[in-house]
Amino acid sequence: MKKVLIVTASKRRKGNSYTLAKRIGEQLDGKAEVTTFHIGEKDVRACLACDACKRQHTPNCIQRDDFTALIPEIDSCDAMLILSPVHWDHFPAQLKAFLDRTYSFMDFTQPDFSMAGRKDKKLAGYFFAGFGPVDVYTNMVEANVKSFATAGFTDYKVHVAGDANVPGSVMEKPEDLKAADEIVEWLLA
Ligand SMILES: Cc1cc2nc3c(=O)[nH]c(=O)nc-3n(C[C@H](O)[C@H](O)[C@H](O)COP(=O)(O)O)c2cc1C
Repeated sequence: MKKVLIVTASKRRKGNSYTLAKRIGEQLDGKAEVTTFHIGEKDVRACLACDACKRQHTPNCIQRDDFTALIPEIDSCDAMLILSPVHWDHFPAQLKAFLDRTYSFMDFTQPDFSMAGRKDKKLAGYFFAGFGPVDVYTNMVEANVKSFATAGFTDYKVHVAGDANVPGSVMEKPEDLKAADEIVEWLLA
């Protein structure tokens, strides 16, 4: 069974990231081994840039918080799905902190700069925006998810749902649900 890590990056428990995470979790039930990590409820601190992780060749971080415990899950999963709002045209701060902490997978002695145990993992980014422009945000997400390559995610799929300010409104948007269903199929393939 595939191991899928679902990461949400909203603070709104009734918001669209949580709503879709619940739906996708139910769809994956029995088909994948799912771990869900709600960054908004966790302690994920900023990277210390201490470079302690550069004195080793397996991913680890000396800063002890909820991200540290997640490192083995990130390393061993088959796929990660990030469900997140767009904040000020970019990743929300909590997701940026999460991304920064994957610096603990970076190994300057390797040709691909990665000490990830697996480098064949899939990453889907499903983002919600209150307004848009959706095409600009899609480019932004596509550009930024590539930074997760250091943690071994080398295959990407992205969707941005606009007009998503109303909590839970994604459930009434057939096109956005279809895009989510396609992402679920792709994660399991
Ligand atoms: C601090 C903050 C900044 C935001 N910035 C943007 C933005 O730049 N563009 C946009 O379209 N929506 C913006 N929004 C709206 C959210 O992207 C939108 O409400 C989204 O659906 C929230 O996702 P959630 O329901 O999972 O929390 C912002 C919301 C907040 C709270």
